[in-house]
Amino acid sequence: MIASIKILLFILGLFVSLKLLALAKEENQFIYHGFAGANLLLNEIAKIHPNGLLELTNTSKRQIGRAFFPFPLQFSTSLFNNSRPFSFSTQFVFAMVPELPSLGGQGIAFTVSPSVNFTGALAAEYFGILNSKTNGLSSNHLLAVELDAVPSPDLKDINDTHVGIDVNSVISIDSAPVTNFSDEEKENKSLSLISGNMMSLWIDYDEVERLLNVTVAPITSTKPTLPLLSTSLNLSSVMLDSMYVGFSSSTGAVASSHYILGWSFNRSGQAQSLDVSKLPSLPPQRKPGRKPYLRIAVPAIAAIILLLAISGAAYIIRRKTYEELREDWEQEYGPQRFSYKDLYKATKGFADRELLGSGGFGMVYRGVLPSSNMQVAVKKVSHDSMQGTREFVAEIVSMGRLRHRNLVQLLGYCRRKGELLLVYDYMPNGSLDKLLFRNDTPILNWVRRYQILRGVASALVYLHEEWQQVVLHRDVKASNVLLDANLNGLLGDFGLAMFHDHGLTPEATNVVGTVGYLAPEVTRTGKSTSSSDVFSFGTFMLEVACGRKPVESEKPPEEVVLVDWVFECWKSGAILGTVDPRLEGNSVQEEMELVLKLGLLCTYRTPSARPSMRQAVQYLDGNATLPDLPLQGTGIGLLPVSSTEASGEHVLTIPVSSEDISSCNLSESILSGR
Ligand SMILES: *[C@@H]1O[C@H](CO)[C@@H](O)[C@H](O)[C@H]1NC(C)=O
Ligand SMILES: *[C@@H]1O[C@H](CO)[C@@H](O)[C@H](O)[C@H]1NC(C)=O
Ligand SMILES: *[C@@H]1O[C@H](CO)[C@@H](O)[C@H](O)[C@H]1NC(C)=O
Ligand SMILES: *[C@@H]1O[C@H](CO)[C@@H](O)[C@H](O)[C@H]1NC(C)=O
Ligand SMILES: *[C@@H]1O[C@H](CO)[C@@H](O)[C@H](O)[C@H]1NC(C)=O
Ligand SMILES: *[C@@H]1O[C@H](CO)[C@@H](O)[C@H](O)[C@H]1NC(C)=O
Ligand SMILES: *[C@@H]1O[C@H](CO)[C@@H](O)[C@H](O)[C@H]1NC(C)=O
Ligand SMILES: *[C@@H]1O[C@H](CO)[C@@H](O)[C@H](O)[C@H]1NC(C)=O
Ligand SMILES: *[C@@H]1O[C@H](CO)[C@@H](O)[C@H](O)[C@H]1NC(C)=O
Repeated sequence: MIASIKILLFILGLFVSLKLLALAKEENQFIYHGFAGANLLLNEIAKIHPNGLLELTNTSKRQIGRAFFPFPLQFSTSLFNNSRPFSFSTQFVFAMVPELPSLGGQGIAFTVSPSVNFTGALAAEYFGILNSKTNGLSSNHLLAVELDAVPSPDLKDINDTHVGIDVNSVISIDSAPVTNFSDEEKENKSLSLISGNMMSLWIDYDEVERLLNVTVAPITSTKPTLPLLSTSLNLSSVMLDSMYVGFSSSTGAVASSHYILGWSFNRSGQAQSLDVSKLPSLPPQRKPGRKPYLRIAVPAIAAIILLLAISGAAYIIRRKTYEELREDWEQEYGPQRFSYKDLYKATKGFADRELLGSGGFGMVYRGVLPSSNMQVAVKKVSHDSMQGTREFVAEIVSMGRLRHRNLVQLLGYCRRKGELLLVYDYMPNGSLDKLLFRNDTPILNWVRRYQILRGVASALVYLHEEWQQVVLHRDVKASNVLLDANLNGLLGDFGLAMFHDHGLTPEATNVVGTVGYLAPEVTRTGKSTSSSDVFSFGTFMLEVACGRKPVESEKPPEEVVLVDWVFECWKSGAILGTVDPRLEGNSVQEEMELVLKLGLLCTYRTPSARPSMRQAVQYLDGNATLPDLPLQGTGIGLLPVSSTEASGEHVLTIPVSSEDISSCNLSESILSGR
């Protein structure tokens, strides 16, 4: 049942198409949007895709494909009354998709021929319609319009992809490179025949004018008003009464797929315009010319190059990030040398939230060393000059060798361009001045304070007497004493420290230290000695006992300078009145008095009258009795400091002479202050 319906439908379909064909034959006109069911005469490798697309050739080399309207059309003028002169008009849409980009393989010839028997015709430049023997014979009765992607100089082709008009011969009687005359710009635009895009071609002939017009345009545009070729031609001797119309296409040593998508023909008037929307679609285009392996290789290579570029950039950024300076002479300091990478990682890239504090000469960051999980403090000091670096690093390394439980241990250093990094033990409780001078911190009780004083004193004994060289700290003050987890005081920041051998007196250098702690003779002579450290320590003791800075300009005039005030109070027998009021008397009065008196003793103006640090420790430990203080006040205290200048925090650096400026020690110039 179903089968018989199918057969019926088939017969009906056949009848309809035969009827249409008959009509077309009669009327000498037809229009195809796609060629499904068109019964075209297909030759060689030409085929019709299921969607109606006519494929004349594929990309196989040296192939021919032909497709002709199934019946010959009446071309003879004699069949017509004089009222209807001979003419024809056709439009077709084609596409040439080259195997290699911009390298098309021969082309398509619209052909009007007395027969479809092209036995012996050749591919390539003969378009499958002629061969070298038949070429040019007037008996051919052949008219062709060639779309030629390959110039053949021996066939007098112009050296470009071109459109040519061929009469009995593939040597064109007229040809032109494919351009599109732009109406707006009044000039020719070059078009590529082998772009793979659909293009329209119009051929119009009128016997009255005897002009064969050929017009080409992209499918996106309407028919240009000016034809590409307009050639005077007498076709009466060429055309026979009945002629086949169709296409012959060939490929050569290079090949393109040649497609026809739609075709209208009219033997008796203007061919109807093709409706682009009704045309079949082209097969999905592989990127022309990309071999399958290239299709994989090209993105792969691109990916590899991208990957290399990214990793290269990452490497450079990484190198830049972790770049450091390292010179041969530093080799002996190997153990003290840290890699910048480790420090960078330890401090999370010197993150702001790891910042412990900052001073005039650098920032201090908290860090955890990745290798040992050890907490450290990293001081970042900028230094521009390379001068003196070697000596300076030597000093740092020396400091690194200092070992005392009341000295903040310098673990090592790292050098970068313009930057020096010092790695210290991390002190979780920060610096002492915060606990002493700030009201928002818990009160440090007397026992702790006394403990801290003894600790710092013993550290100074070690520096002055017990190490292989005499080390002058030169900046003893509350803000340079750091507190560990158990609130032990550790003397830190050796930024101004100086070394000299035992038995020698140090040379005069710049006056360094902090106003309020500076011994008077240092400002006078520029010479730091262990006695000047004692002076600073004396001031520091008073600082700790009284809980205030050595110079506080906002206090009543008699109290501005701490040493002077304590001395005056001692003279009037009220020395305990200077003790930090926050201690509220719950402390050992004898110890307090001892500390205050020892503080005054250490701040004698005459250096030789001050005790040594060893003696100071003995007094503090109760192993020696404190001598009586002289009652005449001139021997004790600071140089008069004008209260406007004094701020207690400013680092004083007074060059003693011009020579001293030039020999200025790097450590002093870059590391003073906190
Ligand atoms: C081209 O078509 C011919 C005949 O259909 C076929 O033998 C050949 O393999 C095709 N070539 C390509 C490259 O598709
Ligand atoms: C015109 O053509 C018809 C047939 O096509 C013919 O019968 C008729 O005689 C012709 N007229 C002239 C004047 O030639
Ligand atoms: C085609 O033409 C050749 C001669 O050119 C002839 O030998 C051959 O028989 C013809 N074939 C057909 C099918 O007519
Ligand atoms: C084509 O040949 C002509 C001369 O024959 C020359 O002037 C022109 O530059 C050539 N064009 C190309 C694209 O090779
Ligand atoms: C081709 O010509 C038409 C009509 O003049 C114009 O609209 C179109 O832009 C032209 N195309 C190109 C590619 O120049
Ligand atoms: C455009 O090309 C045609 C045919 O090649 C030529 O005759 C015409 O002079 C050209 N026009 C311009 C403006 O270049
Ligand atoms: C051919 O082109 C010329 C010049 O544009 C024009 O005058 C003529 O009418 C055209 N002929 C046909 C048949 O389109
Ligand atoms: C066209 O060619 C035919 C046959 O060769 C000839 O009789 C006729 O006079 C030609 N017409 C013109 C206008 O040259
Ligand atoms: C052929 O031309 C005639 C007269 O201009 C027109 O009526 C007819 O529709 C055309 N046919 C086609 C298929 O172009």
